[in-house]
Amino acid sequence: MAIRNIREMGDPVLNKICKEVKEITDRTRELIADMFDTMYEAEGVGLAAPQVGVLKRIVAIDVTGEDPIMLINPVILESSGEQSGNEGCLSVPGKTGIVTRPNYVKIKAYDIDLQPFELEGTELLARAICHELEHLEGHLYVEKVEGPLMDVEDLEEE
Ligand code: NI
Repeated sequence: MAIRNIREMGDPVLNKICKEVKEITDRTRELIADMFDTMYEAEGVGLAAPQVGVLKRIVAIDVTGEDPIMLINPVILESSGEQSGNEGCLSVPGKTGIVTRPNYVKIKAYDIDLQPFELEGTELLARAICHELEHLEGHLYVEKVEGPLMDVEDLEEE
């Protein structure tokens, strides 16, 4: 396990469409372990494989610090409702902006044995799922920000 370098906005790897995972190799397992290590080290709630430079459809999420969720080849099956709130991204350090997302999503994904499962999420988990899945399509939240992209420091001073 290791901490990997987080790619930042402007790096072209963040704007590419990721490939489906078709088999789990030792390298895949190592990547997933490193993604969680890297996400926790950076105090993030989500990390997608392209953020560490790997164009594979793999996402790590943990919105509480105690509920690690690993998604392989995730797809959204249903979404509903709406929530607006501040969002950030480890690839856009020090910045935040308001993004509107569904308040509920239901997804299908595959686990480490490539067995399918479904997962429902609301509120922050729904937001994190939507944010991370967009990384797999080469999109960053800054494209969806309503109003200015703010400095996190300025927000904390208010
Ligand atoms: Ni992000």
